Amino acid sequence: MEHKVHIFDTTLRDGEQSPGASLTGREKLEIAHQLARLNVDVIEAGFPCSSPGDFKAVQEIARSVKGPVITALARAVKADIDAVWESVREAERPRIHIVLGSSDIHAKHKFRRSREELLAMGVEAVRYARTLCPDVEYSTEDASRSDRRYLYQVLEAVIEAGATVVNIPDTVGYAVPAQWGRLIADIRRNVRNIDQAILSVHCHNDLGMAVANSLAAVRAGAQQVECTINGIGERAGNASLEEVVMALKVRRNYYGAYTDVVTSELCRTSSLVSRLTGLTVARNKAVVGANAFAHSSGIHQDGVLKNRDNYEIFSPDDVGASGTEIILTARSGRHAVRHRLEGLGYTLTPEELERVHQRFLAVADAKKEVFDEDLHALMADERGTSNQTYDLESFRVTSGTGVCPTATVALRSGEAVLEQSASGDGPMDACFSAIDRITGLGVTLKEYQLNAATAEKGALGLARVTLERDGATATGQGASTDVVEAGVRAYISALNRLLARAK
Ligand code: KIV
Ligand code: ZN
Repeated sequence: MEHKVHIFDTTLRDGEQSPGASLTGREKLEIAHQLARLNVDVIEAGFPCSSPGDFKAVQEIARSVKGPVITALARAVKADIDAVWESVREAERPRIHIVLGSSDIHAKHKFRRSREELLAMGVEAVRYARTLCPDVEYSTEDASRSDRRYLYQVLEAVIEAGATVVNIPDTVGYAVPAQWGRLIADIRRNVRNIDQAILSVHCHNDLGMAVANSLAAVRAGAQQVECTINGIGERAGNASLEEVVMALKVRRNYYGAYTDVVTSELCRTSSLVSRLTGLTVARNKAVVGANAFAHSSGIHQDGVLKNRDNYEIFSPDDVGASGTEIILTARSGRHAVRHRLEGLGYTLTPEELERVHQRFLAVADAKKEVFDEDLHALMADERGTSNQTYDLESFRVTSGTGVCPTATVALRSGEAVLEQSASGDGPMDACFSAIDRITGLGVTLKEYQLNAATAEKGALGLARVTLERDGATATGQGASTDVVEAGVRAYISALNRLLARAK
């Protein structure tokens, strides 16, 4: 039988504990509204006892965010519980979340109390919280390093005292999936009254297994998963919400479980959290990373263009991503280049495609990634120089401080290769003069412009040259990662147009 997994988002509490990620009250509210759009089941809005500012932020969220349960964290002491209740009581559906250690390590080195004393403290805290609020969650901190029998005993006692949710945290990220799944299954078997509470897990990512552990727990019967957007949280972070949710969506049959999360809001939520916390998302992050739908190798690009299912297990729309991206690099084949050019409105003959692909490869070798602007520049160059009279064969320039700039340019015209050298005010001027010597056409340079096609170090230079001869003008464009070559190509293109017009 399929079961629903409640998604408990703790981005605003555990996530905000990420070093360097503190949020203002307004920012927390903005994220909380987005989490409600994402349709998470529970929002843990903060730890009200930690500061008056956090208290106010939780209160504001409780007052204005509708839909999810709103909770906040308390230690198992009256003052904390009172603060949580005061901050969440105006929520549509408030919950008090109490945490108390259950491991001997915490008992001895953190609380300096016996197991029995801690058990009594936990039970008393739950009983008190239940006098305030009908929904009380109890977390057995450091459960993964706790004695099994004692853990069962604590769970049974707090459920008896009125806990409606019991949460099993792997506080230090020590668990491994098979063992963690077994623990959850054993809790289901050994805690007599477990059916009277929702069984939850909260996994940290110290060994990179927070998501795998959470999913193993779901398979073993956990009904709530605590997680954060982008996996932010203490130290290495918490289980990433988007990964847990998408794993349950894509492998629903395997897990026998589903969530009510509106997955098309995942990317928007991820970028909001990233922007407001300043914690950037790695490009290769699963589900929401910039590369999640980016295909780079020629084989994959060809496959995904034939049918997306070849290399994608869910679609960009499923998570609200902008779309499948074909990254044009030196590994891209003709299929990918033609596809992108068609998307930009160019229809190419097979011969044109061949020529453009060769030039594309030269550009890609020089600048790693080729963008749409680069393709426009290549096409302007290609279209402007087909049917030409002169074609660039090669060029060489010498220039520098205290050196007279000189250039040698070779142009192909039909079968002939014509070469000339010249000096000039700069390398560009020297090249233009060398070309003038070859053609002997007596043209006047009216305009020369050079721009970078994209804002990056290895950008394509996009040159534009206007020439005049006998009252007629023509403009040509040239593109290359070498700016002198871009200028030379633009000059030749303008020349050829002048000649074509004269004909
Ligand atoms: O990691 C942890 O144990 C916690 C609890 C408060 C659930 O964050
Ligand atoms: Zn935690």
